[in-house]
Amino acid sequence: MTYVDSAPSKVNSQDYYHMDSLKENGFAILKDADFEVPEEEFINLEYMDWKSGGDTNFAPIASALGDMECAGFWEHDKPDKDGVWTQNAQHCPTIKKYVESMNTNYGRVRTIKLNPQDYEQALTQIHLDDNNRINPVGSGWVVRTWLELTNNPGAAMILRTKKDDVTSEVQLPLHRGMRYVVDSERMYHVVMNPTDKPRFSLITSIESSEQMEKWIQSNS
Ligand SMILES: [Fe+2]
Repeated sequence: MTYVDSAPSKVNSQDYYHMDSLKENGFAILKDADFEVPEEEFINLEYMDWKSGGDTNFAPIASALGDMECAGFWEHDKPDKDGVWTQNAQHCPTIKKYVESMNTNYGRVRTIKLNPQDYEQALTQIHLDDNNRINPVGSGWVVRTWLELTNNPGAAMILRTKKDDVTSEVQLPLHRGMRYVVDSERMYHVVMNPTDKPRFSLITSIESSEQMEKWIQSNS
């Protein structure tokens, strides 16, 4: 079965704690990872048919209840926090250790497999994420962090503040080991992969917090 991420719920972002490092641009580029994720830790995971941002498959590593599913946590009456490891997690110890090393509240943890798509194709898939549905007012705004797992020359994260406004566009060229954090409910985003191979990346939902802000600063 094919699923599609739904549009963001109507929440007022001003009701939540935001990290300074994302306030101006809506994203922060981190230093490259100082470790490598072995290929078998993401190639061999169990992937599910879940379309978001192109021809994609996702391997759930942490989900709402630890089940093998990509659905939003709200379907289990949870905000996108307090993720539970799935059976995939035992096969990717480097990824699990990395997520835990952030020492912050994580929700969905997934690797994405994105099949090739050029710039024009990618733009048809640009979207906002639904990160803060039923997130309690006054808590930390949920954002996402990426760790690129493969090298796909020419691949880039396309970010826009306005969906149809090319003048608001920023492109982040991607490479293996690259890390970044995006307020993906504020920034329209999609990845172009103009190669002939799938691009893999780790995507983790994280709750904004003072601790996470310090982590971003010490990793920037
Ligand atoms: Fe997204």
